[in-house]
Amino acid sequence: MRFFTKLLLVLFVFNTILLNAQDNPPKDPNRIIINVDLGRETISKFIYGHFAEHLGHGIYGGIYVGENSTIPNTRGIRNDVVEALKEINPAVVRWPGGCFADTYHWKDGIGPKNQRPSIVNTTWGGVTEDNSFGTHEFLDFCEQIGAEPYICVNVGSGTVQEASEWVEYVNSDAKSPMTELRKKNGRDKPWNVKFWAVGNESWGCGGNMTPDYYTDLYKRFSTYMHGRGLIKVASGGTDPDFDWTETVLKKTQKFRNLVQGYSFHYYTFCHGWNDKTSATQFNENDWFYTMKNTLVMEERLEKHIALMDEYDPQNRIGIMADEWGNWFTVEPGTNPGFLYQQNTLRDAVTAGLYLDIFNNHARRVKMANIAQFVNVLQAMILTKDGQIVKTPSFYVFKMYKVHQDATLLPVNVTCEDYSYDGMTLPSVSASASKDKEGRIHVSLTNIDPHKDKNVEIDLRGSDDLSNASGEIITAPNENDYNDFGQPEKVNIQKFSSFSIKNNILKVDLPSKSVVTIELKK
Ligand code: AHR
Repeated sequence: MRFFTKLLLVLFVFNTILLNAQDNPPKDPNRIIINVDLGRETISKFIYGHFAEHLGHGIYGGIYVGENSTIPNTRGIRNDVVEALKEINPAVVRWPGGCFADTYHWKDGIGPKNQRPSIVNTTWGGVTEDNSFGTHEFLDFCEQIGAEPYICVNVGSGTVQEASEWVEYVNSDAKSPMTELRKKNGRDKPWNVKFWAVGNESWGCGGNMTPDYYTDLYKRFSTYMHGRGLIKVASGGTDPDFDWTETVLKKTQKFRNLVQGYSFHYYTFCHGWNDKTSATQFNENDWFYTMKNTLVMEERLEKHIALMDEYDPQNRIGIMADEWGNWFTVEPGTNPGFLYQQNTLRDAVTAGLYLDIFNNHARRVKMANIAQFVNVLQAMILTKDGQIVKTPSFYVFKMYKVHQDATLLPVNVTCEDYSYDGMTLPSVSASASKDKEGRIHVSLTNIDPHKDKNVEIDLRGSDDLSNASGEIITAPNENDYNDFGQPEKVNIQKFSSFSIKNNILKVDLPSKSVVTIELKK
């Protein structure tokens, strides 16, 4: 009898183990399937976009130093910054804000510089804005770096007439007071600016409006911003405000010719808006939450996309994620209103996550603009007088430019978790594309600060892809950064810890790294 009971017990335990094993089959760690033959969507090059606001040294000192500066410049625009930015193929630049846009009266920034009024930048630091960088200078800057301009008009404190005349001044070829004024100011031909945002964060600094009120205003402004082929972008709500999105989409449904884009902003604040922490002095807890809060963006974005699919099933309105990035505390000793922060390997890793998310949602995401270009928040470039620094985030943009206008390849990622203090996150992120020459680019990010990952990538539906090369961004420490007058600590290095056989790519992906591998026949 005792023997029989024991036998039953052993059988029971064995059975339970067997059942559990069936319920939770062992995880296939770090396996990615890429369907090379199933690409449908184009990754718009405008996902690799930027944002330059009249904020701190984002424009003055950073981009524009004036013709009389000792810093080498072309019509006042820094040559060193232009040359550096060209390396990353900046596709589009949003200007003049941000919150500044809803205080900006564009006529203050045209004509002879000594006759332009000085105003107070009430949003950012209360400093004097002398308007020496205005419409002509911005469009000159875009031409110098080879980017499309994206102008945000003032809805909060401006008028419909101002917005309408700005479009006419910039884009019209017909004879009119506005085009005559443009010619008098030295520009004969129109610039043909395609992208126009109608207000910025109109729920907050752009006028504290309700979604209903904003949508009505949006329709008025958009009606009088004339021109063929314009992409007019409505302000979104806060990132979790789905009601705002639904209101704008619903109330413009019968006016689809008035709206081509919908703005979406998302920032990573480490622990939250009121608990931002330093850009360079952080511990693993801060690292984990920075990754976690970055990944939350995908969920928010997908909910907005679901609403757009409901109200715009033909996919005519693009999401313009025209502000995104890490927002930490300012560097000690700098003006809190200038939002100047350093940029470490942590920023490079989150940039990899963000760009993978945008790439993988390319069906709906038609533009994204990291905040911001120079000297503000998660910048590409930092300047100090005549010196410049290319940040770790700059190098991610340089590495990822291969995805611009390439065909998105669907990826399916299974990976180990990155665990910290009883919490977990998926450790590996990926996106892939095929360019016009048939080259495949696979980008991988490992957010785990301690463990390398062996990743096996199954490249399905392609001829033999045996010709491979790789690049990596990593550094010994999570908070390594590039500083003025010092050798760079974080930049792009050659990467060769991988092998490929029969279209199975095996990668030894280092901890805290961003990698891109190019494959061709
Ligand atoms: O990028 C800084 C500010 O963040 C922008 O001016 C505003 O739109 C957002 O809240």
